[in-house]
Amino acid sequence: MSEHALLAQLRDLIGAQHVLHEGDLSAYELDWRKRSQGKALAVVRPANTEQVAAVVKACAAARVSVVPQGGNTGLVVGSIPDDSGTQIVLSLQRLNKVRAIDKANLTLTAEAGCVLAQVQQAAEQARLLFPLSLGSEGSCTLGGNLATNAGGTQVLRYGNARELCLGLEVVTAQGEILHGLTGLRKDNTGYDLRNLVIGSEGTLGIITAATMKLYPTPAATLTAWAAVPSVSAAVQLLGLAHQHLGAGLTGFEMMGQFALSLVDKHFAPLRVPLWQDSPYCVLLENSDTESQDHARQRFEHLLEVAFEDGCVTNAVIAENIGQACNFWHIRESITLAQAQEGLNIKHDISLPVSAIAEFVQTTDALLTQHIAGVRIVNFGHLGDGNLHYNVQSPLGVDAATFLKDFEPRVNEWVYQSVRAFNGSISAEHGIGSLKLDSLPKYKDPVALALMREIKQALDPLGTLNPERVVSTKSSRAL
Ligand code: FAD
Ligand code: MLT
Ligand code: ZN
Repeated sequence: MSEHALLAQLRDLIGAQHVLHEGDLSAYELDWRKRSQGKALAVVRPANTEQVAAVVKACAAARVSVVPQGGNTGLVVGSIPDDSGTQIVLSLQRLNKVRAIDKANLTLTAEAGCVLAQVQQAAEQARLLFPLSLGSEGSCTLGGNLATNAGGTQVLRYGNARELCLGLEVVTAQGEILHGLTGLRKDNTGYDLRNLVIGSEGTLGIITAATMKLYPTPAATLTAWAAVPSVSAAVQLLGLAHQHLGAGLTGFEMMGQFALSLVDKHFAPLRVPLWQDSPYCVLLENSDTESQDHARQRFEHLLEVAFEDGCVTNAVIAENIGQACNFWHIRESITLAQAQEGLNIKHDISLPVSAIAEFVQTTDALLTQHIAGVRIVNFGHLGDGNLHYNVQSPLGVDAATFLKDFEPRVNEWVYQSVRAFNGSISAEHGIGSLKLDSLPKYKDPVALALMREIKQALDPLGTLNPERVVSTKSSRAL
């Protein structure tokens, strides 16, 4: 079938105004970090699951690849088309209804294109909590969150997107609909297809809706900002926080001084606290089931012990919601501040918490030895052992030239170090196309071979988001 005939068929299926073929399509073709620009044959915007299935079926018959896209906030270049001009971008944005909330079952069922903040608000209106929380929550979608198994800032208490999901509705590569929207917490009826699709980044199926867990809203939430003298002090503080706050510990973020200096430079009105005198700061959140006073007492006690132990040198507990929001806003602004500073080499790694201090010491030393004046933007979800260990050009060195000269080598140094400390080269962002070539070097070969077989079994024509996560091209496959 010609491309022309396929586009005509797609227009018949979902309406001509929802098949975008001409004009400025950069919102769908450019990745969030503006590192990669693709070219789509067309962008299609179906309205419901049946239309998604019909589009996928038509594309499969025409052997045309489909790239699912939610909010296009992914950080590993997985949601834009390649530059061939032959792939269809399938935007889920019009599937944006919250279908149901079951208060007794503590579940919410929503369509894949719902923006994460919209899902949080729907839960809030039912006086319940949907805990998934990311800096991109104003534009990323539930489908994208599940396709990437997103993490964010509440993982240490509630788990990542996978742990929050009970059921999925999925369109297969053949255009069939898998009706799996169960709200069951126990269901051992065979292979776990839901967990196969979660984290598969649009390569095994297209998520059209999901049933997610909800939680009771905490009675009080309190936030503190602490200056710590080192990474090992931050790890020590994490241990104390677990011990003293138990399940009340819902956030534990670490931010290096250079990361905070970028927020101070690019977003001065946010007034970053305590960063100038300390190599690292930590943002802690305590969610209490009793009251604000109880939360404060427990926090004060924790900080007293931490001061005595020497793992905190200064700290401030937010006085009100506005101040707490400002602390979080500072933390969430690091990504944007870094983008404003210029292109950087981004890493999203995880390590056993017990190995993090030594990893940072060793890898900082390695990079400094190889690149005089290198600037390391180290921050992340320390409570989950997840660092965004990013590498910025030395002052005065053009960012594009730095990336051209150093990116492969920096990746190699950082990832070798991650391997030496038994970590992972992707904690929460996924593989996309950015890490496609790195994965075979660091993934267990048997696991990688099984992943390729699964891809082949579920998508034999290879039309679902090809060359993302695993390559099926023989030259890259080994
Ligand atoms: P997209 O970017 O559109 O797509 C991401 C991948 O999922 C692509 O491979 C795409 O093909 C696939 N996909 C999208 N929708 C579907 C679907 N319905 N079915 C099947 N496949 C689909 N991530 C974190 O984990 N933690 C963070 O703390 C975090 N913070 C961020 C902060 C900022 C400022 C930014 C820009 C990004 C951040 N991210 C974070 C990354 C990103 O927001 C998440 O990966 C998010 O889950 C992507 O959702 P999306 O809807 O934008 O997906
Ligand atoms: C974060 O934790 O802020 C996000 O994962 C985004 C990033 O890594 O820049
Ligand atoms: Zn993160």
